[in-house]
Amino acid sequence: MDRRERLLRSLADGRFHSGQSLAATQGVSRTVIWKQIQQLAESDLDVYAVRGRGYRLAQPIELLDAGAIRAQLAPSTARRLTALELHFQIDSTNRRLLELAAVSAIAGHVCLAEFQSAGRGRRGRGWVSPPGSGIYLSLGWSFDAPPESLTGLSLAAGVAALRALRRLQIDAVGLKWPNDIVVGERKLGGILIEVRGETTGPCTVAAGVGVNVELPERAARRIDQPWIDLARAGYRPSRNLLAAALIDELVRVFSEYEERGFAACAEEWRRYDCVTGRMVRLMSGSYTLTGRMLGIDDSGALLLSVDGAVRRFTTGEISLRMDA
Ligand code: BTN
Repeated sequence: MDRRERLLRSLADGRFHSGQSLAATQGVSRTVIWKQIQQLAESDLDVYAVRGRGYRLAQPIELLDAGAIRAQLAPSTARRLTALELHFQIDSTNRRLLELAAVSAIAGHVCLAEFQSAGRGRRGRGWVSPPGSGIYLSLGWSFDAPPESLTGLSLAAGVAALRALRRLQIDAVGLKWPNDIVVGERKLGGILIEVRGETTGPCTVAAGVGVNVELPERAARRIDQPWIDLARAGYRPSRNLLAAALIDELVRVFSEYEERGFAACAEEWRRYDCVTGRMVRLMSGSYTLTGRMLGIDDSGALLLSVDGAVRRFTTGEISLRMDA
């Protein structure tokens, strides 16, 4: 086990632990413990050091446990899962799956991490992923279809995430096209679908989901858009239960997508959508335009009313116009 992982396990209860007791349990010197604490802090975790009392995390953390996650999966999910790997640290769970995909099949392969050092977001952004503070999960899948048939898949993955959250009574969540998971106008989570394959199919997909559970202040300072986490929204779910629910619902939605495409969940997406009717700014490629969101069509494309005409977009990102 990674040294920092062992240290995080000792500190996970959120109580004070003296440098001396940590050093004794880990069989290292207090100076080594102090250095490891610095490393944890560099990974953006808030660790308090108080003279005479020792070290403690700003908040307790429920660490992920592959056995606990597996035990919560529906039998139909378990049947389709080919692997569940849990890393303490990784650069990006999506990148890991794509690397695997170059040499083997990844359908049904789940990759989870406590900490991503180079988490990827949409449109070339990063995804802030400090240890134990979110869910960083990727599922590999294979579709016997060409990549263009997967345009609605990222919206379908959003529906899966909403189902999972609602299963845990996290109801105050919605979707913002194409697949931002939001609470009010703040981003709670996001989905990154990366596709590899020939134009004629089949194709391999790494579907990554990130959900902010309880972000340390210092990590949150690096987020460049309005954000929220489950704790600040008033929810404290078990991270293991949330991970299992996400895996279950992703597998279910992807299986439905294999059969019926996006049509299987278009109505449900519309129920979770919290932007239709609002004025938005769309950024797509090199251009930006403003219009009123009319909703989505049955393939998941965005319908915008721009200067009286209805226009359809399959890629891009929208931001809400506060002045309208
Ligand atoms: C977005 O920008 O909205 C998408 C964020 C996706 C983040 C998740 S975390 C797990 C997976 N691995 C990554 O590197 N990114 C995705």
